[in-house]
Amino acid sequence: MIQENVSLKPFNTFCVDVSARFFAEVSSVEELTEILNLSNDKKPVLFLGGGSNILFTKDFEGLILKLNLRGIREEIIDENEILITAKAGENWHQFVTYCLEKNYGGLENLSLIPGNVGTSPMQNIGAYGTEIRDVFESCKVLNLETLETEIFDLERCRFGYRDSIFKQEAKGKYVILEVTFRLTRKNHNINVEYGAIKTELENMGISNPTIQEVSKAVINIRQSKLPDPKVVGNAGSFFKNPTIPLVQFEDLKQKFETIPGYPNGDFVKVPAGWLIEQTGWKGKQIGNVASHKLQALVIINATGNATGKEIFDFSTMIIDSVKEKYGIELEREVNII
Ligand code: EPU
Repeated sequence: MIQENVSLKPFNTFCVDVSARFFAEVSSVEELTEILNLSNDKKPVLFLGGGSNILFTKDFEGLILKLNLRGIREEIIDENEILITAKAGENWHQFVTYCLEKNYGGLENLSLIPGNVGTSPMQNIGAYGTEIRDVFESCKVLNLETLETEIFDLERCRFGYRDSIFKQEAKGKYVILEVTFRLTRKNHNINVEYGAIKTELENMGISNPTIQEVSKAVINIRQSKLPDPKVVGNAGSFFKNPTIPLVQFEDLKQKFETIPGYPNGDFVKVPAGWLIEQTGWKGKQIGNVASHKLQALVIINATGNATGKEIFDFSTMIIDSVKEKYGIELEREVNII
């Protein structure tokens, strides 16, 4: 079941054509542990979910394990709440749709995010005012050293903005097998504070939205400005929105009056999309790579023939321009391999 020299083009949303020296798909924990026991000579091992937040810059010399564990189960807590568990290989948006069909609330703002359930805790996926930490109960992981399963609760995951323990100390030590969310069955907490949702709901003529209508608004917004990876290769936001000290922001505001910022204590989050647009990169194409014309934060494989190295180099040029003009160092959000 381990294949050799497999093209990874169908397995990464950037559609970059690199190959894996070894490749296998696993559908159960038993299969996963069996392969791990057999493949001590095939290091490094990389676990792949939906491939929607990864950039391969060269061929991969080790073993890629594509996680296809499927299944959803539910445990009713009381008339208000439910615990719902999805295995790592469930597609994120299909899972969100399943919850909405059953009228379970909490994930509607996270509609249409590419990728699988298993990678959602890694970077604490978030959009339109919600992050998974808001509804996260726990996740079950495989400890790669002991090959035993463990449970990580909310506290142990140490979620931050696009961040968790799985990107920090626990990096490379565990595989996420399934994730449990605590959702509402009624009296849903509708969160439409994010400006774009408010505007979209107004356009839809809705003043008291259901969770299904919030989801529809989010889908409309995403479809109107984020490129569909099935049509043009991309990995969503390529950079994080940088957080800078308030004093630095105030200095910048003197020089660049229109700079937007979202204050948070002594810090201010500045939209990377604005910085990239203001440095002239929005919609710009070099060779096979471009910054998306409707959302500068998204880098696209414009021709379908971009190499990972080209995309990486393009992102470095953006980082350099923003650093030079604003003194802010953008950090890549996508995993670079
Ligand atoms: N902006 C520009 N030009 C652009 C894009 C954005 O000036 O080309 C400025 C505008 O001022 C706008 C602000 O940036 O008001 C915010 O833009 P937007 O609402 O599109 O959100 P974002 O900060 O660019 C973040 C997430 C997205 C998520 C949206 C909505 C990150 C790195 N990205 O983008 O997540 O969908 O908010 O919540 O935090 C992803 O992670 O892949 C992703 C798409």
